[in-house]
Amino acid sequence: MSSLSGKFGLIVGVANKRSIAWAIAQAVSAAGARVALTFQGERLEENVRELAEGLTDPLVLPLDVTDDGQIARVFEEIERTFGGLDFLVHGAAFAPRDELTNPFSQTSREGFKTALDISAYSLIALSRGALPLMERRGGGSILTLTYLGSDRVFPNYNVMGVAKAALESTVRYLAADLGPKNIRVNAISAGPIKTLAAAGVSGFSNILQIYRDRAPLRRNVDTAEVADAAMFLLSDAGRAVTAEVLMVDGGYHATGM
Ligand SMILES: NC(=O)c1ccc[n+]([C@@H]2O[C@H](COP(=O)([O-])OP(=O)(O)OC[C@H]3O[C@@H](n4cnc5c(N)ncnc54)[C@H](O)[C@@H]3O)[C@@H](O)[C@H]2O)c1
Repeated sequence: MSSLSGKFGLIVGVANKRSIAWAIAQAVSAAGARVALTFQGERLEENVRELAEGLTDPLVLPLDVTDDGQIARVFEEIERTFGGLDFLVHGAAFAPRDELTNPFSQTSREGFKTALDISAYSLIALSRGALPLMERRGGGSILTLTYLGSDRVFPNYNVMGVAKAALESTVRYLAADLGPKNIRVNAISAGPIKTLAAAGVSGFSNILQIYRDRAPLRRNVDTAEVADAAMFLLSDAGRAVTAEVLMVDGGYHATGM
């Protein structure tokens, strides 16, 4: 029996085949899980529907995480179709382009609110929606994706770093809140990977090169490697792990120079 057979998951954050969330969707699906994928806006619907054709009996639903009505409808549909939920993968993040190019001191109030709302608050809103469905299954695993820019300064990462710091703290508070219900909450802090979201950070190729030069493994990571680590946290193999930020970055985080 595969490690996730008979399990139901919700995966938020697939934009295209390069998305980290897509690699996770493929891995969990290959391990036997049935998943709901969401797409943000009509612009991405076709992409996500086409990708979903490669999965077994997926649900594909619209979701903008700033819209409470859409969040509620996603969980209603999951309840109707799956009857419960075993895991949630949160891979949504956004900051307005100006905030990722202007000097940090120029961060606007609106840009700050948007980045924190979409990239951090949404984990709380989605976890709250998942809670009754996970309780019905005797527990669950919630996973989000973060970056070392939460803790260290990377050029142009700016307000996204602040949002990731809030996200990682949110992981710990949710883990403490939901742990007694056997719901685990963790993050993977991935090394830089060229995706749609990453393309928004100016000078991103330079960050990739510095990791290649300095990470202990002397290379970048890919989405399949992040997905393998996600499998550990989402499956029973990670059943005693919660409130954790797992670094999947070739060891870069440990370097001093
Ligand atoms: N690519 C990297 O270098 C890297 C490194 C570490 C962490 N991460 C994190 O991984 C996660 C996934 O990003 P990715 O790199 O796969 O890029 P991506 O662009 O493929 O995924 C980002 C997703 O966020 C979604 N999103 C943005 N605003 C949304 C909204 N309002 N409602 C719903 N969804 C919304 C987009 O639709 C997209 O699917 C993000 O949290 C990102 O910060 C990425």
